[in-house]
Formats: sequence, structure tokens, C-alpha cells
Amino acid sequence: MRILVTGGAGYIGSVVTEELVRDGHEVVVYDSLYKGHRNAVVPGARLIQADLLDAETLRATLADNQIAAVIHMAADSLVGESVAQPAKYYRNNLIAGLALLDAMLATDVKRIVFSSTAATYGEPEKQPIEESDPTNPTNPYGESKLAFERAMRWYDQAYGLRYASLRYFNAAGASEVCGEDHDPETHLIPIALQAATGRREYVEIYGDDYPTPDGTCIRDYIHVVDLARAHILALHALDNGSRIYNLGCGGAGYSVKQVIDVTRHVTGRELPLRIGPRRPGDPAVLIASPEKIKRELGWQPRFQDLNLIVDSAWRWLLAHTNGYE
Ligand code: UFG
Repeated sequence: MRILVTGGAGYIGSVVTEELVRDGHEVVVYDSLYKGHRNAVVPGARLIQADLLDAETLRATLADNQIAAVIHMAADSLVGESVAQPAKYYRNNLIAGLALLDAMLATDVKRIVFSSTAATYGEPEKQPIEESDPTNPTNPYGESKLAFERAMRWYDQAYGLRYASLRYFNAAGASEVCGEDHDPETHLIPIALQAATGRREYVEIYGDDYPTPDGTCIRDYIHVVDLARAHILALHALDNGSRIYNLGCGGAGYSVKQVIDVTRHVTGRELPLRIGPRRPGDPAVLIASPEKIKRELGWQPRFQDLNLIVDSAWRWLLAHTNGYE
């Protein structure tokens, strides 16, 4: 199948592209490279460097390449930044997303897999979170993703657009070739690994007074390759109708302190810590129920053990000390 991957030069997009190419699909990566990396575009995929709001290039890319389906991953995804700059999130996540849907309709491309987020749920009322639980985002990032999900639902009803919306929990780890290289880095595991290499002096724990067993926040970490495989399953399921899935491993999750202990164990290095204040907007616990995608698509995480996830990220970091540059 010929597939357009928006954001295919980003962390998760590069791994999705890698898996698609491995499965024999023809992939066109559409990425402005404003945060993505040219070197993250895997061999075998073609890069079009352009913005989603460049309507002419977008339409031409869809039409000229006879694209059959889109995996839409290009987005801004920092919760804190979205609170300070909501306009950026509405523009890049919602307006640019709608521009993509318009271009798809104009070129008769009617299948899309979308990167959504646990942030659509806000402060959940219960754990683990199911897809049918209330969505009540507490920041513009989650709002912008939810607004796009809702737009797709109406486009499905009116125009027959088939969508799969994948609500990611905490993506982590690396494939053999692609890993995480953000600037600035805000995610816990890469920050802990940078501290292990000495590139950072310490890891700051954002609050140890949460109502959890060790006082630190609990999250559901999912290996980026397991996440990528779910996109391919969702893509193939689109012919049977639109759907929304959580993507996490479920189970008990891991606290910030547990992540740091695992990182110490995997790296065998010292990890200096400091306890800081809570980060605004962090829910105490976010655990997915992944039962729906397991039941309907047969998805199973292969790297559920956090040791394996952190180990893959550590190996990638050691092999790419300057990231993709
Ligand atoms: N944390 C620290 N110190 C750090 C970095 C993070 O203690 O230096 C803590 C956070 O407070 C949080 C946990 O580690 O409790 C995980 O934080 P991340 O930033 O790695 O991930 P988040 O859970 O905040 O973010 C994820 C996705 C977002 C999504 C969000 C939904 O990366 O895209 O879940 O709430 F919006």
C-alpha cells in the first residue's frame, strides 16, 4: 500500500515508517523538519519536506504518489508549552489537521490512522482508563487532539472517511535504528539516561507527595516498536469501520522512582536525584486498559518489561551520542 506518514521524521513517526517499509509498503514521509530529523527518515522511504498548511504541496503529494492511506503523526505534543501557547497547538494540531483532511477528501484518500493521546482523558475518574471513559482534557494539547478526533467522526459520517485514533500513553524505548532525540527533552526516560551518561547533572523528580505508594507519579510505558505495530494493525482494520483505541501496556504501571531504579540497573551508573515541586498538570496515575485493541485486533506488546524498554533506549543513546546530528 502507498502510505503518507506525516511527522515521519519524528520519534514515533520514524519507527512507524521503519515498520511499514519492513512490511513492504511504499512510504512517503511528509515532514517540515521543524522538529523532526532528516536522518531519522529510514532508507526506503521518500521525504517531502513541507508544512501541512502548504495546501498545494500537500494535495500534489497525495495525488502524484497515489496515496491510499495516511498515518497522521505530525503534531506539537508538549503539555506545558500548550498551556503557555494555545494558539500554536490549535494551529499545528487542529487547523493543520483539518487542512490534511481537506486535501485527503479532494484527492479521494479516505483512510487515516491518527496519533492521539491519553491527555484527551484529563484527570481520569478511574484506572485503568477505557476508551468509553469521559474525555475531559485539562490542557490545550489534549483539547486539540480531541477536537481533531471529533472532526474525524463527523467526516466519517458525512464523507465516509475511515479513521483509527490511537490514544498513546507513555511511548518509550528505541528500535535498532530509530530513537528519541528531542530538543528540549522533557520525557523522563531519556532525561534519566542523559543523567546516567553525565550529560545532565541530576534527574529532578517532579513531586514525591502524590497519593501513590512511593509518592511519585505512575505511568504506563509502551515500547515504541509495539506502538508502531499497532498502527499497522489499525491501518488494516479500517475497511471494517472507524475506531478508537488506547495504547499502553496496562498492568500496574511504573512510578517515577521505579523508572529511575530500572535506569540505574540497566545502565549500571550512578543517577543523582533531586526532589522538586510537582509539574503543573501531571495526573497522579495514568494507566491504559489496552483490552479493546487486544480483543479486536489481536495486538500484544512484546516489550512489556520496563527493563527491555529502557535497555533499548540506552543502547540507542550509546550508539548515537549526538542524537541524529
Ligand atoms: N518526570 C519527572 N522528572 C522529569 C521528567 C518527568 O519527575 O525530568 C515525571 C513526570 O512528572 C511524570 C513522569 O515523569 O510524572 C512521566 O513524564 P513524561 O514527561 O515522560 O511523560 P508524561 O506522562 O508527562 O507525558 C505523556 C506524553 C504526553 C501526553 C501525556 C498525557 O508524553 O504527550 O503523557 O498526560 F500528553
